[in-house]
Formats: sequence, C-alpha cells, structure tokens
Amino acid sequence: MAGESDMAETTTLSCAQCGKPAHLQCPKCVELKLPREGAAFCTQDCFKASWVSHKSVHLKAKLSSFGPGTPGEQNSAAPDDDWLYCLKKGQTRTPKHPLFDWTGTLRPYPISKKRIIPAHIDQPDWAMDGIPKEEPNSDLQHVVEIKTTEQIERMRETCRIAREVLDAAARVIRVGVTTDEIDEVVHEATIAAGGYPSPLNYHFFPKSCCTSVNEIICHGIPDARKLEDGDIVNVDVTVYYKGVHGDLNETFFVGNVDEASRRLVQCTYECLEKAIAIVKPGVRFREIGEVINRHASMSGLSVVKSYCGHGIGELFHCAPNIPHYGRNKAVGVMKAGQTFTIEPMINAGVWRDRMWPDGWTAVTADGKRSAQFEHTLLVTGTGVEVLTARLPTSPKVFPWLNS
Ligand code: MF3
Ligand code: CO
Ligand code: CO
Repeated sequence: MAGESDMAETTTLSCAQCGKPAHLQCPKCVELKLPREGAAFCTQDCFKASWVSHKSVHLKAKLSSFGPGTPGEQNSAAPDDDWLYCLKKGQTRTPKHPLFDWTGTLRPYPISKKRIIPAHIDQPDWAMDGIPKEEPNSDLQHVVEIKTTEQIERMRETCRIAREVLDAAARVIRVGVTTDEIDEVVHEATIAAGGYPSPLNYHFFPKSCCTSVNEIICHGIPDARKLEDGDIVNVDVTVYYKGVHGDLNETFFVGNVDEASRRLVQCTYECLEKAIAIVKPGVRFREIGEVINRHASMSGLSVVKSYCGHGIGELFHCAPNIPHYGRNKAVGVMKAGQTFTIEPMINAGVWRDRMWPDGWTAVTADGKRSAQFEHTLLVTGTGVEVLTARLPTSPKVFPWLNS
C-alpha cells in the first residue's frame, strides 16, 4: 500500500544535519515536492542549524522550474531556457522571494541573456568586467569640469543619438510589449548608430537601458513582463559615443492610464522644465531642488531623495551632484561649459524608496506610482542648451505638448 510504504520510507530517513533518525520534513521541500532525502531532520534545532546551507536546495528547484508569481494572465508566460536570472549580493531575482515584502503589485520577471556588442564599437572601461575604473578615481568626482568646444561638439552628437534611441523605444511601447523587447530596440538602435549602451555591465547592470514600470522609481531591469493597459513606464537611455555619454529618460503611457497617473507624469515633466528654466551661469546647484520641490508639493506629490542628477561627459556619473529635493546641501554655482543631468523622480505617495533584492530596482516604499524625466544639459554663456531636446521627428506621445 502506498500509505504504508510512504510511512516506512519516512521513518528510515536520517537527519540531514546530524544523521540520527529523522521524522520531520522541511515544509518548503514538501511544498516544492523535492526528494525527501536531504529534507528530513530529527529536531527543529538541527533544521535551524542546517538552514543556511539547506535553503539553497529550494533556490535550485525554483531556478529550474520558473513561473511568475501573482501577475495577470497575459504575463504568465512559460519558462524559457534562454532566460537567466539577475544575481547580486547572493540574492536571486524571483517573484516569490521569501524574505522580501514587495511594496506594490509589481514583481520581477526573468531576464534575457546578455546582448552582444559588435567588435567595432568603442566600449567604456566597464564593458568587459563590469567595473568602472576611471570613474570612481577621477578628480572630476570633486571638481566640475568646464568642457572645451571640442568636447561640447562630441556631447551634442552623442546626446542627439541618445534622443533618437529613446524615440525609437517610445515608438514600440504598447500593451503586450515586454520591457526586454524595449531593451532590444534600445540596444540595436544604439549599436546601429555606432554607440555603446552605457548601462550594459555598468557595475554589472545586466541590460542596455533601464525600464521602470509603475512603482519602480528608477533602475528597473528590462525583463519578460509584458506591459499592461494602464501602466506607466520610464525608459532611461544612455549612449557612449566618441568618448562621451549622453543621458535622458521619459515616462510613457501604456493604453488607457488613470487620471491620477496622467497628472503625476505631467507634473514630473513640468518639474524638469521648470528646473531647466533657471539654469544659467551664477545660479546655485541647490536651487534646482527648490524649484522641483515647490512644483511637486503644490500638486500633493513627493520628491525622491536617494537618486540625484549628475555631471556627465567622458565619465557617466561625476560632479556636480544635483539633488531634486528642497533644502538640499548641493555645493557650487553653475558655470558656462558645464554639462550635467537633471532627472527628477516624483512620487504619488511617500518620497521614501526601497531596493528590490536584485540590488538595482528602486521602488516606492508605499507601492504607489513614481514618474521621471531626464535631460543632459549644457550651461551656455547666457542660459542653457538642452543637449537631449526633443526633435521634430520625436513621436508625439505627451498630450500636453500637442495641438
Ligand atoms: N541612466 C541612469 C542615470 O540617469 C543611470 C543608469 S545606471 C544603470 O543616471 F546601471 F542602472 F544602468
Ligand atoms: Co542620469
Ligand atoms: Co539616465
């Protein structure tokens, strides 16, 4: 009889920790229908003592039979051998992470294989091993560089390419498209223009752009999740071309988006516009946050504090640091020839952020939505030049810019 043999088998098992006869089964192993050998323990103490090594059994089982967690039906795609997982700090990227309290309804999905860069493309120094070498040690982390006219000309070219790449991504955004497919468009458009997608392998970031859906504030990793009707999605593109970086992002609507989200996205767009409008020689960097905070709080929205605008050029991220929130302590005044980004992240609820176990995805602490817009700017003699400005060919996706 099946029942009898089950019982006999169980009673003959020995404890995975100490070898004594074992009558307890790891509940997780039972749930995952894993073999009982190695899942049996004599006492709770032995179970606890073996936990750190034993739990890897669950992890391996999950990785070999991936299925998404709670998301909607169109997103319950079958597992695919081509998909890999983002590993950072020993954490896996799985929607059923046992020790993480997800702040909203969004979950991680599988990540595709690393995309290939053709040999003729000039690469930044992190492309091969994931480690930026020049950037962290540079003096330009402390002093704000004044670009030469030759550097500025290269920045103009690179930023224009970055704009065209973002526009290409914007044109494919619709219900059912995965963020991985957006990443593919960004990757292919970037290399077609002769550029390198700066995020790829930057501090081991696994993809060529960031895609941040709904409650993701920034640094969302493109994955197998299909965009759903009513989502908002930010696409952040950075291109490395002729030795300099150009960085911009926009938040797009997917299908029919509710009124509150439309207001959030428009207000965030306006925050960036108002901040750009004060840029000219002699203005304090700390004023940018005042302008943004004023406009966001007027609409009952909050400003993210953990992520800031940054200097940019031959380095991806350098001085100055540009907080977007009010009462900040940013140092220095703007001077002609400086290039930096402004990239406010505005939240519908609280300003506080949390990090997913993947070590990249920054989400709102309350699970409410977040929007962002970013431009790379040049301080001119009299004001500002938006190096990543929209082009006549840019898709008309923002209702407040039309008519
Ligand atoms: N583009 C982002 C920024 O605006 C940085 C992305 S870094 C990555 O600064 F590694 F997450 F891609
Ligand atoms: Co940036
Ligand atoms: Co960016």
